[in-house]
Amino acid sequence: MGTKKDYSKYFTGTAPSLKEAKKRSKAAPQVITDAFEIPTDMIEAGKGKTFFIRTYGCQMNEHDEEVMAGIFEQMGYLRTEEMETADVVLLNTCAVRENAENKVFGVLGHLKALKRERPELLLGVCGCMTQEEEVINRILQKEQHVDFIFGTHNIHRLPQILRDALMNKELVVEVWSKEGDIIENLPKTRNGNLKAWVNIAYGCDKFCTYCIIPYTRGKERSRQPEDIINEVRELAAAGYQEVTLLGQNVNSYGKDLGTEYRFADLLADVQKIAIPRVRFTTSHPWDFTDEMVAVLASGGNLMPHVHLPVQAGSSSVLKLMGRQYNKDSYTELYNKIRTQIPGVAVTTDIIVGFPNETDEQFEETLALCKELKYDGAYTFIYSPREGTPAAKMVDNIAEETKKARLQRLNAVVNDHALTHNQAYLETVQYVLVEGTSQKNDAVLSGYTESLKLVNFEGPASLIGKIVPVKVTQVRTWSLYGEYAGE
Ligand code: SAH
Ligand code: SF4
Ligand code: F3S
Repeated sequence: MGTKKDYSKYFTGTAPSLKEAKKRSKAAPQVITDAFEIPTDMIEAGKGKTFFIRTYGCQMNEHDEEVMAGIFEQMGYLRTEEMETADVVLLNTCAVRENAENKVFGVLGHLKALKRERPELLLGVCGCMTQEEEVINRILQKEQHVDFIFGTHNIHRLPQILRDALMNKELVVEVWSKEGDIIENLPKTRNGNLKAWVNIAYGCDKFCTYCIIPYTRGKERSRQPEDIINEVRELAAAGYQEVTLLGQNVNSYGKDLGTEYRFADLLADVQKIAIPRVRFTTSHPWDFTDEMVAVLASGGNLMPHVHLPVQAGSSSVLKLMGRQYNKDSYTELYNKIRTQIPGVAVTTDIIVGFPNETDEQFEETLALCKELKYDGAYTFIYSPREGTPAAKMVDNIAEETKKARLQRLNAVVNDHALTHNQAYLETVQYVLVEGTSQKNDAVLSGYTESLKLVNFEGPASLIGKIVPVKVTQVRTWSLYGEYAGE
């Protein structure tokens, strides 16, 4: 073992710490309206230069990418989709599972050669991985071609961090391990002009025992209702057809505001705005209130789709996961949603191979899926995350067992997805046409209200509109139909 090197000279402030990131105070989050500012010497820094961003991870991360793109563009940089020629390459990372992290380290390896060829290239890493000290140490030791690193709490500091990196031959690291603020004056360049992400809350306080997100994203903090409503109004006025309200747990929206205003109230307010479609993600079953079910059941622009992660079907595994509900209370909520919200589709997330999960406990997950019959599910093999409580539990399940469980689960999930799709045969569905299908330029594609992918033949003039489509064929993951309009 070599002696531990002192890397402190690289840090602006202190090194990231999961231990610090875990702390929660009672203090209300600060809403800051002037944190983002481009220093005068950076206003034209990007003139004639290009930036490339690749994002891994969830919708919040995708939305963060839109903010970073907005910041780059304000400095005069132009976006490029070619990593090989870009002046600045930024990897916006995800820490939720090991394979997400491995992908990033793979690309960093590839970029070593590019950086050797073009030493003037600036290479940055941001997103959830950079909030982990383990990752920072690995980059410091093995990925010395990285030029700058920042975290999820200081995206607004990108111009200052970039300036430091441009002036400095040494690596620049600025990561804040804190609860986080709410920064309201960030620019955004949205990917697309039909559908938009709108943050309603940041962070997470649920601390499910397997999950790294509460450490990488900070305390649960809600934006002010009027800031959200104004953003949705502006998007509607700009012609957007759909917004998705984003939070790690949208249902607990408002609990930190010091008022009685909650997610159901926000939904009711957004329902009144003239935007055709409103979605939201993700819902933790814990805080799903009857008021929420009622407002969703009243429809309007609130789309009938609920993503309700169950994670496991065994109450004892759920307890170890710290999910705060059991099989029975989840089933009760699920049935309420299914029976009260007309035409609703329900999807879920499931983890297999949680430490010590027995065959019987896995069978309970399968049985619950068979009982509830989801429209779809994202299924994952448990991945231990350093610093979380579950990572200290003995992971004693063989890799083949985990893979076999995942396969069996996927077979059940796919079966139900197909059965749900079959119920759409011969019906007319309203589809927001997003563009041409990935596989065939002559075919249009879009989503139903319940978030089913539909491909159909029709004129390109329908792109951007919500149009009726008669479903004529179904597959497990998509519907096929005919344009049923004039
Ligand atoms: N906030 C959301 C989840 C965000 S992460 C929620 O609670 O609903 C998306 C999914 O990744 C989770 O629902 C979970 O199924 C999965 N996940 C999170 N941590 C994981 C881990 N350590 N290993 C495997 N899957 C994990
Ligand atoms: Fe992770 Fe649980 Fe928070 Fe979702 S609710 S982000 S799974 S800790
Ligand atoms: Fe990944 Fe961070 Fe999202 S860990 S799932 S990018 S909040």
